[in-house]
Amino acid sequence: MAKLPLNLEGKLEKRRKGNAFRTLSPISDLVDFSSNDYLGFSREKRIAEMANEQVARLQPFQNGATGSRLLSGNHGFYGELEDFISSFHHSPAALIFNSGYDANLGFFSSVPQRGDIVLYDEYCHASIRDGIKLGPSKSYKFKHNSLGDLASHLKRSRKVHGENPTIYVVTESVFSMDGDSPNLAEFAALVVDNGALLVVDEAHAMGIYGKGLMNTLGLEDNVFARIITFGKALGTHGAVILGNPGLRDFLINFCRSFIYTTALPLHTLATIWAAYRFFDSEQGRQRQQALTDNIGYFKSLIVQKGLNMYFSESSSAVQVCRIGGNDQTKKLSSVLKEAGFDVRPILNPTVPQGEERLRFCLHAFNTGNEMESVLTMVKKHMLNEE
Ligand SMILES: Cc1ncc(COP(=O)(O)O)c(C=O)c1O
Repeated sequence: MAKLPLNLEGKLEKRRKGNAFRTLSPISDLVDFSSNDYLGFSREKRIAEMANEQVARLQPFQNGATGSRLLSGNHGFYGELEDFISSFHHSPAALIFNSGYDANLGFFSSVPQRGDIVLYDEYCHASIRDGIKLGPSKSYKFKHNSLGDLASHLKRSRKVHGENPTIYVVTESVFSMDGDSPNLAEFAALVVDNGALLVVDEAHAMGIYGKGLMNTLGLEDNVFARIITFGKALGTHGAVILGNPGLRDFLINFCRSFIYTTALPLHTLATIWAAYRFFDSEQGRQRQQALTDNIGYFKSLIVQKGLNMYFSESSSAVQVCRIGGNDQTKKLSSVLKEAGFDVRPILNPTVPQGEERLRFCLHAFNTGNEMESVLTMVKKHMLNEE
């Protein structure tokens, strides 16, 4: 077999030298402080049973979708599920994508047109940035969660590009690597006042803050599009773009990551449906409460143990302990691993140099004891205690 070209080998070597070489490891039975399964839905057997029952009811039965949605893959259940999801999130329309990555890539590469402007938070997810890169619009990043910087970008955009360009402003309701949120009410007001269009990725807010922060804050009418992913708190796979019927039609006609791919299998659609049903049940509400309680307890432990200076402010399920340096961050992660805790290091180049961190993902199923023990170890390490 042909060897890897030398220039690719060189890039890998650079990663190895920077202690940033990525490898795949099998899922572990360690205490989970790393997955996006915030509510424990991915391990919930009842959701699997409901999905199987639903698949058995749906006609025709199919293992795979057999084609893209524009060809043979648009099972009748797609429409039913999209109607259900759009009404659940108080949106006029919904379009399901195969993943959140596909949804963002497709939206940002197809919707903003030549002459339009995209203003995006500097910490936006790779899928958003990749989509913007593929598209023909001009784009500028604004400082993380900074209303002031966004306001000056909006002003400058109108001045430089005239009154006419459509301006899209993109942010996340919970940032995946920091766990923090913008002041969405103020962001929405600023964007609407400036005649721009707001797009919010709710991947890490759905299920952590009810149906997502735009719903919870009653801001759904101020947003042009929302991206909700199903692979995180809902414990399954796929994503939906919520917006008006015109946007849905546009995406069906022009969004390449929607058009040129095989649709999701029926079983995945049924699992998404079951996860939503479970989310909206008494048990689902108990899970959401358990997660909220755990976040509160974890934050109280940070204070109790004097670790505030290392942890960023976050009220979400993502809590971030700044270590600095790939070596140091990896080291603490492996110390925790040896003690039975799965806490992932987030390294450069995923985050800027010096901002390397441990990212704690909290779950409804984490116990008080687990949270207490892991933070005791972090304290020992950070404060050099024996
Ligand atoms: C903010 C954000 N948006 C989109 C995605 C992509 O979603 P998916 O995993 O469904 O492709 C992620 C996943 O990590 C994310 O964190």
